[in-house]
Amino acid sequence: MALDDKVRLGVNIDHVATVRNARGGDTPDPLRAAQLAEAAGADGITAHLREDRRHISDVDIEGLMDVLEVPLNFEMAATEEMQAIALRHKPHAVCIVPEKREERTTEGGLEVAREENRLAHFIAPLRDAGCRVSIFIAADQKQIEAAHRIGAEVIELHSGAYCDAHHEGRFEERDAELTALREMSAFAHDLGLEVHVGHGLTYETVQPVAAFPEVRELNIGHFLIGEAIFRGLAPAIEEMRRLMDEARG
Ligand code: PXP
Repeated sequence: MALDDKVRLGVNIDHVATVRNARGGDTPDPLRAAQLAEAAGADGITAHLREDRRHISDVDIEGLMDVLEVPLNFEMAATEEMQAIALRHKPHAVCIVPEKREERTTEGGLEVAREENRLAHFIAPLRDAGCRVSIFIAADQKQIEAAHRIGAEVIELHSGAYCDAHHEGRFEERDAELTALREMSAFAHDLGLEVHVGHGLTYETVQPVAAFPEVRELNIGHFLIGEAIFRGLAPAIEEMRRLMDEARG
């Protein structure tokens, strides 16, 4: 398999911090998980510093910047506070996500088209600082065009609706969501955007998405951290890696 054919796997370690924070101590340590993920074949580590710090903390981000050998994909809301933190650390990549305090997880994609001007000004200093800016959006042509216009280099398409439909047995809807992801991956790629996909991916749902030729990276967290309880983190990641490579091959 040519190197270019490989889809990168970004492992999201937020929920190691969720478990740690449930008791308020130091364990399990997300940095240790990140290093283990790196050793197990993760091509990058993703961490979302939420405004309410419900899982990843500022200290975790500092630690990740210090210890990681693979790139850090820093997920953040488009706020001044987060922009200042990103500019202080200058991670390899910054992924701009919508954030609502009351949500359990990032529910939808960013409404780029509605906030084009503000977002264009918001991401410019991040790009100038050398961060690759990614925008987390739904598989929607209008949002992709807007992400391109504001100067993003990367988009990450939200796969949550596809995965939910699959696991809830709504197969017609699942297939429609998958078609949208496929068509919009190709559309974004033709505009010159690098295409990533993430949210809700599992062993059952990863392969059709990993097989899209335009997809360069998948970001996966919750399922892998859950699966780690049963088979250990490294084997859980290795199996995901194997499925991705198999889909690509
Ligand atoms: N990509 C983005 C932009 C996200 O916000 C998340 C969830 O934090 C993920 C990927 C990973 O989603 P999951 O934890 O459901 O695998």
